[in-house]
Order: sequence, then C-alpha cells, then structure tokens
Amino acid sequence: MSQMQAPQGAMKSVLHEQRAFPPHADFVAKTRIDAARLDAMRAEAAADPVGFWAELARKHLAWQTPFTQALDDSAAPNYRWFVDGRTNASVNCLDRHLGTRGDKPAIRFEGEGGDVRIWTYRELHAEVCRLANGLKSLGIAKGDRVVIYMPHSPEAVIAMQACARIGAIHSVVFGGFSSSSLRDRVIDAGARLVITADGGWRAGNIVELKKAVDEALSSGCEAVGKVIVFKRTAQAVGWKQGRDLWWHELLATQSAQCEPEWVEAEHPLFLLYTSGSTGKPKGVQHATGGYLLNATVTSLWVFDYQDSDVFWCTADVGWITGHSYVAYGPLSNGVTMMIYEGAPTVPDAGRFWKICQDHGVTIFYTAPTAIRALMKLGEEWPAKYDLSRLRLLGSVGEPINPEAWIWYHRVIGKEKLPIIDTWWQTETGAAMISPLPGAMPAKPGSCTQALPGIFVDVVDEAGVSIPSQEASGYLVITHPWPSMLRTVWGDNDRYVKTYFGQFADRQWTDEHGTRRMLYVAGDSVHRDADGYHWILGRVDDVLNVSGHRLGTMEVESALVSHPRVAEAAVVGRPHEVKGEAVFAFVVCKGPRPEGEEAASLAKELREHVGKQIGAIAKPDDVRFADNLPKTRSGKIMRRLLRSIAKGEEITQDISTLENPGIVAQLQGR
Ligand code: WTA
Repeated sequence: MSQMQAPQGAMKSVLHEQRAFPPHADFVAKTRIDAARLDAMRAEAAADPVGFWAELARKHLAWQTPFTQALDDSAAPNYRWFVDGRTNASVNCLDRHLGTRGDKPAIRFEGEGGDVRIWTYRELHAEVCRLANGLKSLGIAKGDRVVIYMPHSPEAVIAMQACARIGAIHSVVFGGFSSSSLRDRVIDAGARLVITADGGWRAGNIVELKKAVDEALSSGCEAVGKVIVFKRTAQAVGWKQGRDLWWHELLATQSAQCEPEWVEAEHPLFLLYTSGSTGKPKGVQHATGGYLLNATVTSLWVFDYQDSDVFWCTADVGWITGHSYVAYGPLSNGVTMMIYEGAPTVPDAGRFWKICQDHGVTIFYTAPTAIRALMKLGEEWPAKYDLSRLRLLGSVGEPINPEAWIWYHRVIGKEKLPIIDTWWQTETGAAMISPLPGAMPAKPGSCTQALPGIFVDVVDEAGVSIPSQEASGYLVITHPWPSMLRTVWGDNDRYVKTYFGQFADRQWTDEHGTRRMLYVAGDSVHRDADGYHWILGRVDDVLNVSGHRLGTMEVESALVSHPRVAEAAVVGRPHEVKGEAVFAFVVCKGPRPEGEEAASLAKELREHVGKQIGAIAKPDDVRFADNLPKTRSGKIMRRLLRSIAKGEEITQDISTLENPGIVAQLQGR
C-alpha cells in the first residue's frame, strides 16, 4: 500500500476492535434470512452468479416482456443486464401494490414545521400519473433528461417516479448545491425541463430553490424549455412567463391514470452526479432493470422488511442513498416509509427520536455523522421518547467509528437491536457489503461481508489478489452485478478508465464463460481473520465530509476562481463529527494576507466556495502561505499537506522539496 494515502483517523482504533455482537434471539426468530439461508444463498450465487441474479429478477420484478438473456458481457466493462426484457420502475413501485396494498400508507411525511401528510399507495400512484401526464403534455418523452431540484419531500419522490413512468431520465440535484453547481449539471445532462419548488425548510430558514434555478438558467441552459414549481414555502418568487408553471396548476387538469412507457431493461433510469478525483462531477448513469433489482432485493435482505414496518432512511433524495432507499427500494417492496424534510436539531436535539416515536418507526437508517452529532448532544434527548417500536438500525456513507457504533447500539438500540453498516457507492447503485441482520454477528466499525451475489476482493498495487485471509489493500469488485453504473454520461472513456483502468491487464474469462474485470472502488480496506471488511478510507483525492462526497479538485477550482487566489491545495483532516473536514492551503496574488486581513479573506473565500459549490464544501480551515510545497518537478506534495492539516509531526523527507523553508509557514508557525 506504499502509494496509498494513510488511512483516516479511526484506523488504529478500528483495527484493534475485537468485539462481536451476534443478533438477538428475538430478531433471529422472525428474520427473513437466517445463517443457514445466507449460506444457501451464497452457495447458489457461487455456483452460478449470473443465474442467481436472473432468478431474483424473475421473482422480484414485474416484467412486461420477460428477458431471455441475463448478462451481455460482449462489450465489457460495459456490461448489460436482462437486455431483451422490458419493464417500468414506477409500475414496480406503485401499480403492483394497488391490488393488495392500495390503502396502505406508502409515505408518512413530516415537514420541519411539524406539518404531517400521509400518502397511501393509491394516492401516490394517482399523483405520479398526474405529473407524468403533465410532463407528457409539455412534450417530455422517453429519453429526455429532467433535472429535479427539490426539498426532501414526497413531491421529490413523485417527480422521480413520474419521470420513470414515461421513460424520462431524471437527474436529481441535491437542494444544498449552489446555482452554479446546478447549472453545470443541467448543461452536462442536456436537461429539457427542471422540476423545483419555491423553497424548502431547513433549520428554520427557507432554502430558496426557485431563485437558484433562475440564476442557474440565466446562462447556458438553452435546452430547458419549462420549469415546474411546487409550492412549499409560499414566499414571493420570480416568474418567467411561458417557462414557469405551478405544479398544482399543471396537475389540476391531468388524469390520474397514465399508461406506463415500457422500457428496455438497459434504458437509463437516472443520472446522478458525483465527485471524482479529477475534473468536474460525473454523471453516473444507472439502468432501469438492474438498478431496480438490487435496490429491491438489498432492501429486503438488509432491512429484513416485514409488512408492518415503518422504514426511515434519513438521506436526502439528492444522494444515492435517497434514490435506492427512499425513492425506489422501499416502494418496490410495498413498505411504509418516513420522509422528514428538515434538520435533525429543529426545534431541539430530540427531533429524530420524536419522529421515531410519533410515526412508529421500526427501522432507522442514517449516517455516522448524524449519529456522532446526536451523541454529542447527550443521552437525555433519546431518553425522552418511546423508541420501543424500533427493531433494526443502520449506518451508511462513511466509516463508523466504534465509539459511535457502541453509542448507537446502547442508547438507541438498548443493546438489543442489530446494526447494519452498509458499504456502497453512487456507482454500485445499492448496498454491496453489509451484514444481514439476523444471519451474522456485527463488529463495531466493520461493514462485514459482501452480500450474496456480490464478489469482492482485496488486491495489491498490481491488482493481484492478496492470498492471506488477513489483508490490507485496494477494494475491488470482481464480478459484474446488475446495479453497477453503466457509464459516465457522455464520457464512456472516463467510465472505463476510472473504474476499470487501474488493473486493466487483469481480466479473464471464468468457468461460466463470463468476462471478468476488476471494478476499482477507490477505497482501501482491511480484511480480518474472519473475512470481515473494514473500510479505511478513499485512496484518491475524494473527501467524505459528513457522508458527502467531495473532490479536492472541485474545491480547489472554486477557490482559484476567486480574484485574490493564485493557487490552492485542498486536503482532508479528521473531524470529530463530520468524519473529514476541508482544509485549504491558499496562495494569494500579491502579498500574503496576515492578521485581520487574513481572517476576513478566509471568511470571504469560504462564502465564495459555498456559492460555487454549496455549503457542504466550505473549508473549515483556510491557511495562507507564500507558496505550496513542491517537488523539483513542480508537483505539490499532498501527503505533506495532509500531515500538516492533521497537525502531525512531519516524517516525510522534505529535502527533496524545491522550497523546504515553506513547511514552517504552512504549519502556521
Ligand atoms: C464511503 C454513499 C465506510 C466510501 C452510499 C465510498 C463508506 C463512498 C461506507 C461512497 C461504509 C460509504 N463504511 N465507508 N458503510 N459507505 N462509504 O457515492 O469511501 O456518496 O467509496 O455513496 O463513501 O460515497 P457515495
């Protein structure tokens, strides 16, 4: 692992973590998948990996035209699944429940201000059809891209489902992204229409979404002909006649029936932009059939859904977690889910626990950053509420440190509830490595083992599998899976290079005749003696700030777009609550600012980054220097900057630097 970045803060404590927590007998007694069933599933998958998925696809999805070919690997790594089948995601999520669960709540919604609304499957279906018809009336058809920039709300899910119903490709942009990030995504996707809201409530404030859309569309987005605006916050908004339409006015005249567009399984369901180590965020493209299959079965396996469950995934629909475990997975399985619009601490630190109590939440799935934040606020908050309906807890998005895991287990889980720590990515579409809660012991900080049908490995610098059971190295996925991304929108070379380029020489045809290649996840991992996986962090220049992915390059380009900045280098440093914080080293044009000037410029730069990207990207630390540490060939020594940001002793050899004298200044001395 010589060239890998030193794994993040928690590594040392994680690797000494020995505790194992077997599932409680009460849970095991009712579980869908126990240890024996898990073994059997793994054996089936190993004997015939492609056949395993084909059988699940027949069993768990409704097809208009059944597929005859499960996997087409002829253009690997551009794999195609269920190629000649036709289906529709919204039919799977809605229509197929109407006969048996039409009056069952699909969504329980609570706004930040406390307003509650419950949508049954029948009501949700009707509203999706109305919007789908509305989209058609505006000329949106199969294959058109629709950008959704909305508050976390039932309407965001309705918008996604309505696109899916007519075969339009949605691209949800997180409402916390700035107008400039929104514009980049609208342009890259070639969107014809934007669905937004006047605003959303967050931490007592209105997030002015419509205003940001107006700014974004002010230049370079000529393909966008219409903007549909959902009225949520009801403040006055700008209006462009002929382009802007109110959601309620559009839907008022539409039929509540809409014939679905049956699409080929490979038809793109959505694009979701995510950060990489180079360039602008890339449009990760997912295919209808394969994506929906993994979203559906992983929901069922990992969350062990029962018909009576109320499932709450706290992720915003703007992220992949909100796609797979809000917009698609729960609905495809016909469970009831909770959606909460706002911040976890409004009006106080008990809000999440009050929602669990008031809505009878049984399964709670959140990010470690939220757990750490709530942990800091004290045990008295969860103690105020009746959490007795909870039966399963989950974690996603970043490594969970054992301390937070134990708190979650003890204070929220009352030492009884299983915790599933799910490892996956925007690109994988659904959970890949995770415990099955009734089938195996959990270890605090480990995402445990690959799900049935998913094959992962730990490889060295050359992509060679490390033979010993205990191993540290690059995490790779060695067999194609249905919900893998299909490509990067508009840039297939980038897809091939980013995910399959590093170990491109290691490809082979397996005993089933499948062409295999190594999908490189970009994470480093440790596999322990029990075959459990411990994610150590990214190996590339991607940060994980509060569970959100951020490219250091993106933040650097935002900084250098400020007139005072000549050069910038951004690294991550461990942060108690956020996991990682953004640390920016900045070289200014002209003299290096000091004292008050430095403080005020740092503030200005933070705001500037917020405007360019979004509040999540604002640097926590800005340090000004006369120069950056460079090798004689002009390369910035990032490893050194990472050590400095962490406040570590410098052990690197700085004699090879062109400017070794700069180190003390970078350290703030
Ligand atoms: C990290 C989020 C440790 C990892 C679903 C991955 C995790 C990146 C975990 C993807 C976990 C996600 N334990 N690390 N359980 N889950 N990660 O695309 O570094 O937003 O590569 O998908 O988050 O982030 P993304």
